[in-house]
Amino acid sequence: MWRDRNLMTDEPLVLGIETSCDETGVGIVRGHTLLADAVASSVDEHARFGGVVPEVASRAHLEAMVPTIERACETAGITPYDVDAIAVTSGPGLAGALLVGVAAAKALAIGLGKPLYGVNHLASHVAVDQLEHGPLPEPVLAMLVSGGHSSLLRVEDVTTGVTPLGATIDDAAGEAFDKVARLLSLPFPGGPHIDREARSGSSVAIDFPRGLTSRKDLERHRFDFSFSGLKTAVARWVEARERSGEPVPVANVAASFQEAVCDVLVRKALDAATDQGIEDLLIGGGVAANSRLRAMAESRAEPLGIRVRVPRPGLCTDNGAMVAALGAEMVARGRTPSALDLPADSSQPVTSVLV
Ligand code: KG4
Ligand code: ZN
Repeated sequence: MWRDRNLMTDEPLVLGIETSCDETGVGIVRGHTLLADAVASSVDEHARFGGVVPEVASRAHLEAMVPTIERACETAGITPYDVDAIAVTSGPGLAGALLVGVAAAKALAIGLGKPLYGVNHLASHVAVDQLEHGPLPEPVLAMLVSGGHSSLLRVEDVTTGVTPLGATIDDAAGEAFDKVARLLSLPFPGGPHIDREARSGSSVAIDFPRGLTSRKDLERHRFDFSFSGLKTAVARWVEARERSGEPVPVANVAASFQEAVCDVLVRKALDAATDQGIEDLLIGGGVAANSRLRAMAESRAEPLGIRVRVPRPGLCTDNGAMVAALGAEMVARGRTPSALDLPADSSQPVTSVLV
């Protein structure tokens, strides 16, 4: 029955595998339609270390891979034989973790006799929005903010043309959320906890610094980010409070810190969009799930005539559907599949969308 459906449509049925960090994700899409998004996270195993431990992540991917593929196929109501292509994150990410996904994808592609697409993790964060909001505007200005990356990209064609405009010069935005959460004794990963605490705090209670926004910094780093000074400022503020014996007002610190991060992200993203003459801003990556970031981006973009697209939170954090979405776009646009000996490249540049 599923084979018949496959024959009746031109839209490619693609299975995507994501293992660049601590989520084993297997997604199945048909064109722009999401059929399954199975995710097994090892986040709880890393929590006590306050960050992802690469070896632990790799082992967890190995254990989760086959059951997650099975779960995705079951949800989509297909067998692996039905798919038109396999897509996998080839990089960037943790080397050992990427290797597990790439090895699994190669095994499937060879065993099933299907084409294999090794795709860029960052471009996948952009492509996933098509599953929710339809075809991407071309060009689109993409801001990707997660635990591992913070970048501004000009995207002409998500399968070939991604141009980096700026990136963080130290910590990633999500990393800053995670580190500040730790200072406030909130669990890892800290972003969702800061988001929740901030709702009952004042965003103007403490005036935390906005990195790389001074006139001098803007000359060299107009579209770059820096969050390590902000993290240090929060640490100093909290330490001073603790020394004085007064309780730390967690909600106010969370709200003021979150405001500083979002202010810089939104300011720079809108500046880049205006500079590039782009009217659509797409925000992706785990931090895009932040409620204040979404609200601030929308309210500041509107008077500038810039439309904001943010995938729903489940599609913002790492998942297999995003890889399948980019793979389906590769097939639809007739891109040449990857060689079966494609490498896992932990530092794959964003300009290399397909290896
Ligand atoms: O994209 P992602 O799942 O994995 C990486 O590629 O890093 O992003 C995870 C990051 C973590 O740093 C987490 O704290 C952050 O996204 N995050 C958030 C929120 N939800 C997740 N940060 C701020 N607010 C949130 N609601
Ligand atoms: Zn990511």
